[in-house]
Amino acid sequence: MSIVEKFMTMEYGPAPEDPREALAWLDCHGRRFGHFIHGAWQAPAAGGYFETTDPSTGEKLATVAQGSTLDVDSAVKAARAALPAWQSLTPHAHARYLYALARQVQKHSRWLAVLETLDNGKPIRESRDIDIPLVARHFYHHAGWAQLLEQEFSGYTACGVVGQIIPWNFPLLMLAWKIAPALATGNTVVLKPAEFTPLTALAFAQICQEVGLPAGVVNIITGDGSTGEALVKHPDVDKIAFTGSTEVGRAIRKATAQSHKKLSLELGGKSPFIIFEDADLDSAVEGLVDGIWFNQGQVCCAGSRLLMQESTAEKLIGKIQDRMNTLRMGPPLDKAIDIGAIVARVQLERIQRLVEQGVAEGATCWQPSIPVPSRGLYFPPTLLCNVHPASAVAQQEIFGPVLAAMTFRTPREAVELANNTVYGLAACVWSESINVSLHVAAQLKAGVVWVNCTNLFDAACGFGGYRESGYGREGGREGLLEYLEPAWFKNAPPVHTTPLAIDQPPEEPTDTTAPPIDRTVKLYIGGKQARPDSGYSFEVRGADGRLLGEAPLGNRKDIRNAVEAARKAEGWGQATAHSRAQVLYYVAENLSQRREEIAGRLSAVVGKRQAEAEVSLGIERIFSYAAWADKYDGAVHNPPFHNVALAMKEPIGTVGLICPADAPLLGFLSLVMPAISTGNTVIAIPSEKYPLITGDLYQVFETSDLPDGVVNMVTGRAAELMKTLAEHDDIDAIWCFADEVGAAAVKTLSVGNLKQVFTNEGRAIDWFDLKQGEGRWFLDHTVQVKNIWIPYGE
Ligand code: NAI
Repeated sequence: MSIVEKFMTMEYGPAPEDPREALAWLDCHGRRFGHFIHGAWQAPAAGGYFETTDPSTGEKLATVAQGSTLDVDSAVKAARAALPAWQSLTPHAHARYLYALARQVQKHSRWLAVLETLDNGKPIRESRDIDIPLVARHFYHHAGWAQLLEQEFSGYTACGVVGQIIPWNFPLLMLAWKIAPALATGNTVVLKPAEFTPLTALAFAQICQEVGLPAGVVNIITGDGSTGEALVKHPDVDKIAFTGSTEVGRAIRKATAQSHKKLSLELGGKSPFIIFEDADLDSAVEGLVDGIWFNQGQVCCAGSRLLMQESTAEKLIGKIQDRMNTLRMGPPLDKAIDIGAIVARVQLERIQRLVEQGVAEGATCWQPSIPVPSRGLYFPPTLLCNVHPASAVAQQEIFGPVLAAMTFRTPREAVELANNTVYGLAACVWSESINVSLHVAAQLKAGVVWVNCTNLFDAACGFGGYRESGYGREGGREGLLEYLEPAWFKNAPPVHTTPLAIDQPPEEPTDTTAPPIDRTVKLYIGGKQARPDSGYSFEVRGADGRLLGEAPLGNRKDIRNAVEAARKAEGWGQATAHSRAQVLYYVAENLSQRREEIAGRLSAVVGKRQAEAEVSLGIERIFSYAAWADKYDGAVHNPPFHNVALAMKEPIGTVGLICPADAPLLGFLSLVMPAISTGNTVIAIPSEKYPLITGDLYQVFETSDLPDGVVNMVTGRAAELMKTLAEHDDIDAIWCFADEVGAAAVKTLSVGNLKQVFTNEGRAIDWFDLKQGEGRWFLDHTVQVKNIWIPYGE
């Protein structure tokens, strides 16, 4: 036999990883685990346990505690009790603990990798080479942030007790993504791992003991969705961080709406994998293998929709099928295995069901003829062609090794298809043309875009979604902000609901011989003054009861028109930052021209002194955001690969704003200006107390080169208009700066499309105080970071 023949017939022999150490650890615990609360193992209060099994064999690995509300309560109490001492440590002390955790993860890396593979079914190659190194990297990176926290985030403070709920697809990695930033910023934690994969979280509990982390700083409770629900609803939790399905994310959003809990959600995805005809097809196919068959496709950012340029589709499908025929499926502890087991039977059945539905809807299903183990939970790599963009397999997250393939002709069509989903987590673009790649990347609605690469992650680069893939980022500077709040805001008093006391009487009109000319204020939609659809107006009175004028009573139809106008104006987001700055300066200039008349009218409601202060500070505020417009930049990250990641700050889109009542002009400008300075378009509901300000503002906007539709104003009953805005599915974010009832209402009403919410939580904000009324805290809510990864070198 020649060498070539030998080479061609060479087969892989079995290369199993030794599981003894991991199994011995389970034995050492009697294969039975309680919760980890206040630094010690604690039996469940209600006594319930459940089994966790190896999905590749079905064998039982251990029993773990089913957390009840009592267990959750005891864990939250432990975290609360530990908080003051943990927060009193210096940043350097926090850094040392995080560094110790990173070191200890590294020292235990093989044990953790094997345990992960046993519990989850993922190939050992992945847990050993990807999951666990990234866990260590996350703790290292955040040890650094802990060290720098006071310098880099001065004025910010920790949220407090954080509840964290994670899924089963990257159990220890998701734990690291949650716990590292929480500890680095001075929070204490109660974490609940997924019911299918609790073991590495319990191993991590032991690591916390080993490094001497103070008791109660990290608490781990195990259990199913009901345990997670109890954690979400616990009144003494200050923040919830969740990764999992969009459905549960929505339920959590609803459950926390009536509270002040801060919330970050990392949810599902249906990410496009776009291949242009000029791509290096062989590399793209290798990327695709990682994109959809990594971790059996149980990846929130899996490249599950293949979009191929039509001219190359046939060739590409052939190459993909050839490559699929070489994938090796089998026992995940075998080091030469590509595809391991599906985590649980329920997931396997779900994948099966969705594939059948895809075929019923017209897709053709192709699977390679590779051996599938007869025992355990396996699903073969699957390619669905002729998929209709509207079919279930093109729209729903399958969370399995199933690729849905479609074609496109032009870059524009690729973008349209790619964005044709409610999700927006990740995307891949393969093209040898840097211009095409970046042009397309910029238009994709996705938190991460990998150009000519796929599934790269790093602690320095924020990860998270657009649209119904959730909000908030994990990793990087923006990830830390999810665990911090401005210190003044945390302690701010409730907003005052009593009418503003007038500090000086308004001046009486001098000419009393003729009646004043009726002043008609209108709505402002799409750059035009518009009469309200209702045909009604409402009276606006001054602080002394005097009739000041009538404002239009806007309704649902007006809001809908305003949203449409704002959407149409989204080109504003693509205008250069310099152009936006110029327009804002011009707005300030024109407001300045009218300062006396505007202050005069406003004084009838808020008094002369406040009115003058609102106008002069308002002009300054516009200047501030004009200044920020071309300075609130993104970043370039240098992850530990041959890559750069461009962290672009992109506008969120169309934002609904409920402006504060108590400072009709300054409050309005303090919300509208940051939002438009970064490229959003807005529908603003001006102060119900003095909506006549609208008339002054549109005259300013009309003379300031502000493109039509960038700012739309609808006056009326704030509560009614807010409801329509909050429920509107074509708005990307809603800000509500009213009272506590308003804050809870917008959060509850806006669950439908999971739009981002920013409120004052019913707390008073001093708009006249620079520290409270303007700056990065507002700007940070106007953007979402998109990381575009670009490889360099050969
Ligand atoms: P899931 O969203 O139900 O579970 C994730 C975590 O949330 C688990 O720890 C679970 O115990 C907990 N949980 C469940 N219900 C809860 C509730 N009401 N309140 C608080 N916590 C709750 O995901 P599941 O059922 O395991 O998987 C179903 C589908 O979800 C998958 O097929 C996949 O499409 C998607 N999924 C997406 C993930 C992602 O990373 N984007 C991760 C896991 C699942």
